[in-house]
Amino acid sequence: PIVPVILSGGSGTRLWPMSKPEMPKQLLPLTSDETMLQLTAQRTNSNDFAAPIVVAGQRHADIVEAQLTEAGTPPQALILEPVARNTAPAIALAALAAKPEDVLLVMPSDHVIADLDAFHAAIRAALPMVSQGWLATFGITADKPETGYGWIQVGREIAPGVHQVARFVEKPRLERAEAMLARGDYAWNGGIFLFRADRFLEELGQHAPEMLVAAENAIRAAKHDGKRIIPDEAEFSACPSDSIDYAVMERADRVAVVPVAMGWNDVGSWDALHAISELDGFGNAHRGEVLAIDTKNCLIRTDRVRIAAVDVQDLIVVASGDDILILPRGSSQDVKKLIEAMKR
Ligand code: GDD
Ligand code: MG
Repeated sequence: PIVPVILSGGSGTRLWPMSKPEMPKQLLPLTSDETMLQLTAQRTNSNDFAAPIVVAGQRHADIVEAQLTEAGTPPQALILEPVARNTAPAIALAALAAKPEDVLLVMPSDHVIADLDAFHAAIRAALPMVSQGWLATFGITADKPETGYGWIQVGREIAPGVHQVARFVEKPRLERAEAMLARGDYAWNGGIFLFRADRFLEELGQHAPEMLVAAENAIRAAKHDGKRIIPDEAEFSACPSDSIDYAVMERADRVAVVPVAMGWNDVGSWDALHAISELDGFGNAHRGEVLAIDTKNCLIRTDRVRIAAVDVQDLIVVASGDDILILPRGSSQDVKKLIEAMKR
């Protein structure tokens, strides 16, 4: 079976105040009563897949394990990073903990995939090439000049539904994103990868050898506690920090993309969450103790205090703990600015 690798180390700052360092977005029930992490694990809860290897920050060990157990998808291994070194080292730890010939399905823990059948079909399509050593990604139809994603130029078809990657462009500038959108032969990188563990490690060794060595040393000196694997802190701290996209995918040989329409969404902001939520008859997505009269096209959420609103439109109001966020719809990318201002 395919071995799911779930990455749960991000901080999701644009979803403040619900998402905070101690409770980042993947551990929150944002789109349903289940958390993003639980929804991710359930996507591979079938006979085609083994139990997941989950890579998370040490401080989230207990909550990650509790959520996965509650969802009926306990991990086969829980790798707990003593420090965060971004996705390439996190995936390296998982690949070293797996068997070399294992096929790994690397998944972020903070996405929505509405059409599971399409997702599974895309994985099946990629599998023959992956078994032959290709690294596969999944291509999402691009419909805006998004600078926060990776872009993939889709090349010639090498197997049914599977294309060679002509070019991989991580997080382009706006002008470049606009040009790629206009060309029409680019897709977004969905951040989901399928490859053999040994092939990923081989590419990592070629393009970021110091990362591979640090990850190997950290795993060799790891502490084991039941299913928990705690990489050695000094060794892992010595690892350079970089994403799989920059460190490996942009440079690797034999990279394939499977274009797939699967209702994918990177729930990256409160506006994005409003856009994918089920709305009431007036365009509202409210959640928690909300009393709203004559409100239109709003997102109002609270986890504790009661929110009462009258006669407002196009607002985002989010209350969590002692914090309240208020902004007009369309401005939720600016939450980043708030976080920076609060740091100063
Ligand atoms: N364990 C662990 N450790 N997980 C991590 C770490 C880490 O140090 N850093 C990030 N993650 C997890 C996040 O929680 C998320 O689930 C996933 O890895 C991807 O990281 P992001 O930080 O969200 O990446 P991104 O959104 O900037 O870019 C990636 O995703 C885009 C699609 O959403 C890239 O793959 C882009 O190319 C892609 O388009
Ligand atoms: Mg992301």
